[in-house]
Amino acid sequence: MKLVVLISGRGSNLKAILDARLPAEIAAVISNRPDAAGLDLARSHGIPALALDHRQHASRADFDSALIEAIDRYQPDLVVLAGYLRILTDGFVAHYAGRLMNIHPSLLPSFPGLDTHARALAEGVKVHGCTVHFVTPTLDHGPIILQAAVAVRSDDTPHTLAARVLAAEHRIYPKAIAWFAEGRLLVQNDGRVNLRDDSGSEQAIFITGLP
Ligand code: GRF
Repeated sequence: MKLVVLISGRGSNLKAILDARLPAEIAAVISNRPDAAGLDLARSHGIPALALDHRQHASRADFDSALIEAIDRYQPDLVVLAGYLRILTDGFVAHYAGRLMNIHPSLLPSFPGLDTHARALAEGVKVHGCTVHFVTPTLDHGPIILQAAVAVRSDDTPHTLAARVLAAEHRIYPKAIAWFAEGRLLVQNDGRVNLRDDSGSEQAIFITGLP
């Protein structure tokens, strides 16, 4: 099982994936931002780390074609978006259909897009969290693999809430990737994702808890 991880920034989810010692090889880490701290983290683990600067490309489609070329040199079984902050073209998503995973800092389908923690607080929700899902062309949509919930506190700021959600991200992303690596994830026709157990039978996946 080979992974290519795409990042744009600090790479704390990348670190969680590395620390989890998954039954998978991280073949490369690619960032659209040359200054992403996660690139140094990858290098310190001896993993090929490449920057492909989106600003050097004339269009989103041009950039995504170059990105596909860079990724496919490593022939990954799964492409992992770990804080990759660029909108993907439909062509890119179609190319990796069924093998493209993302983590989003909200309980989807609530709060797709940016500033999820501030928006959750502004709505007064009592439960917030994060979602690992397969990527489809609609932004922050696609079959949900795993979610973790976080209780919202009355004195939360976007910053404090983000920190607790991030800790939950670090728990669920490696788990979802491990399940993929073990061939246990099954996307059903209705888009729901089941987990195959040792005996080969399928079960629904439940939330991981409310800290
Ligand atoms: C995470 O909150 C992730 O859910 C979002 O961007 C952030 C990336 O953080 N898509 P990091 O680079 O993994 O530390």
